[in-house]
Amino acid sequence: MMQKFGDKKSIETRVKKLRSEIQRLREAYHIQNDPSVTDDVYDSLTKELKILLEKYPELKDINAPEERVAGKALEKFEKFTHKKRMLSLNDVFGEEELYEWEKRIKKLLPANEKVEYFCEVKFDGLAVSLIYENGIFKRGATRGDGFVGEDITENLKMIHSIPLTLKGKNIPKYLEVRGEALISKKTLENLNKKNKKEGKTLFANTRNVAAGSLRQLDANLVKERKLDFFAYDIALVSEEKVFSKHSEKHHFLAEVGFLVDKNEAFCKTSEEVMSFVKKFEKKRNAFFYGTDGIVISVDSIRLQEVLGVVGKAPRYMCAYKYPAEKATTIVEDIKVNVGRTGVLTPLAFFKPTLVAGSTVSKATLHNMDQIEKLDIKIGDTVVIEKAGDVIPKVVQVLKDMRSGKEKKFLMPIKCPVCNSGVEKREMSSENASVAYYCTNQKCSAKNQRYMEHFVSVFGIYELGPKILHRFRDEGLISGPADIFLLKKEDIETLERFGEKSAVNIVREIEEKKKISLARFIWSLGILHVGEETARDLALHFKTIDKLIQAEKEELERIENVGGEVAKSIFNFFEDKTNIEFVKKLEKNGVVVLKEKNTLEKGKLSGMTFVLTGTLAKMTRPIAKEKILALGGKVAGSVSKATSYVVSGEEAGSKLDKAEKLGVKILTEEEFLKMID
Ligand code: IVH
Repeated sequence: MMQKFGDKKSIETRVKKLRSEIQRLREAYHIQNDPSVTDDVYDSLTKELKILLEKYPELKDINAPEERVAGKALEKFEKFTHKKRMLSLNDVFGEEELYEWEKRIKKLLPANEKVEYFCEVKFDGLAVSLIYENGIFKRGATRGDGFVGEDITENLKMIHSIPLTLKGKNIPKYLEVRGEALISKKTLENLNKKNKKEGKTLFANTRNVAAGSLRQLDANLVKERKLDFFAYDIALVSEEKVFSKHSEKHHFLAEVGFLVDKNEAFCKTSEEVMSFVKKFEKKRNAFFYGTDGIVISVDSIRLQEVLGVVGKAPRYMCAYKYPAEKATTIVEDIKVNVGRTGVLTPLAFFKPTLVAGSTVSKATLHNMDQIEKLDIKIGDTVVIEKAGDVIPKVVQVLKDMRSGKEKKFLMPIKCPVCNSGVEKREMSSENASVAYYCTNQKCSAKNQRYMEHFVSVFGIYELGPKILHRFRDEGLISGPADIFLLKKEDIETLERFGEKSAVNIVREIEEKKKISLARFIWSLGILHVGEETARDLALHFKTIDKLIQAEKEELERIENVGGEVAKSIFNFFEDKTNIEFVKKLEKNGVVVLKEKNTLEKGKLSGMTFVLTGTLAKMTRPIAKEKILALGGKVAGSVSKATSYVVSGEEAGSKLDKAEKLGVKILTEEEFLKMID
């Protein structure tokens, strides 16, 4: 009997030890991104635990990590397509920019509209979307790219301030709540104290903890970390519930059981907004949670709809960002980084210092012009500035601190990575007058950076920078196109890559082979073509072949594509190797999905409108935007090809011409009905 009891005790201890070690490895892998954790160690420990628990089921614990995720630790979250895009906000820095924002929106609204602004705190956490059906929490997701996020429902259930059931009567059938998940400053402090004691890495800020905890698969960790959720918006609601103001949404959210911050203000002018901004700034340091500004909205939903969205952000909202925090430090060295286009960028390395809640040890100096303008030397004491999540920058050199031993930085004449020649090119952009490029097409740094960009656009998360590097060193791949030919057998034979990781990598590549045209264009790494421009190009050209064949003039005519960008796209496809690259990707299995053309399917597609006179409910630019969004066209003058003339007050000669040509004329009322 005694013997048996002793055995049991040691088994219990073993189970406990296994659990905590597995937990530690999980955290290291997912949160601290520590690559030294190998799958093999993790796998064999999990296997041992599983065998023990099968033999001694009484030691099972439903709250233990292995129960929650059932050995799925390295599998990723499911995709979650947002019914309504998760937008971001345009920032305004300082009083002037706020007044300009107000001026811009006033210009777009009819002169007689009275605008009221609603101000609230901007939390520094992770944006999350929650879905409630008949008052029950069903699913929740991260923002992702705004269109598709990750389903993190199980983790979100661990946050106490997310109600699982909504309070009160008259709960809408469907409700989609947006808000911010985060931890308090105090919790971060305690967490870091504990981590320090245990010799673990410290978290730089509250946002990192929120993101790190929600984007890993152990729901218990979310509970342990004491995350909170503040609700600030309702993205969608079933028809029986109508909101006419943004502030009504806030108050409704509080009523049904969400945590909604009470620091709010209704303002009639941007001067009043400024006084709230200043009032909260005084409280900000003592505030329980990390905040980086104030969100200002046009309160009326009707006016919000009139103002609409441009690019990724609504026009009716903005984020007033509190001034950056500054700190001084010493430039210990300036090194050169080689980017994916081959451009050499100087990077300053500092004596690590704390700015705006996180440790800063390096910052880009952008280009030689910037170095010369600020007159930065190695050894200088500099002022660095950082606002919220904005990348730190050097804003000033304290020249009085110089000892005379400071060293001037010179751009290398050889590429620091491949030792090939460096070429100086004149730039026509306003950022710099010259830039330095590595002349070697095959420079490994260029390729490495480009591959990192490529896999991140394709969403192949299994292939992190270190793995890409390793695969290249091992000769498995020489460029991005080779990724699609990787086989499990190629990978599993490499040291530190068991069968499991090989399977995961190959599976993810297979899953991500299909890509939208917009992302495909973005993945090509064309200079000046980011996510938004790629989307505009995809909407315009609809196939990659049409884009390849486009003339410079056609490119220039596309909205948001200026001369510089058009030139860069044109030059890119002038280079035969780039066309070959596109073909090779397709040959190796990449499938470019047909662009879903929302514009073509719009209810005004095929119609051309001419606007004349003064409209009462909206300004002409807004009316134009609505027509375009529904697939219609807007012309400046009336012809036989015009489908409708929309006539406002005091319409002039265009109306006469329409009558003469027999073109149908719409009053503003009729037009509004048509676009409703
Ligand atoms: S309103 C239109 N209200 O800030 C999308 N956003 O910088 C904005 N954020 O993506 C929604 N506090 O994650 C709103 N009180 C607040 C907020 C807030 C923090 C975040 C949100 C958004 C980001 C934009």
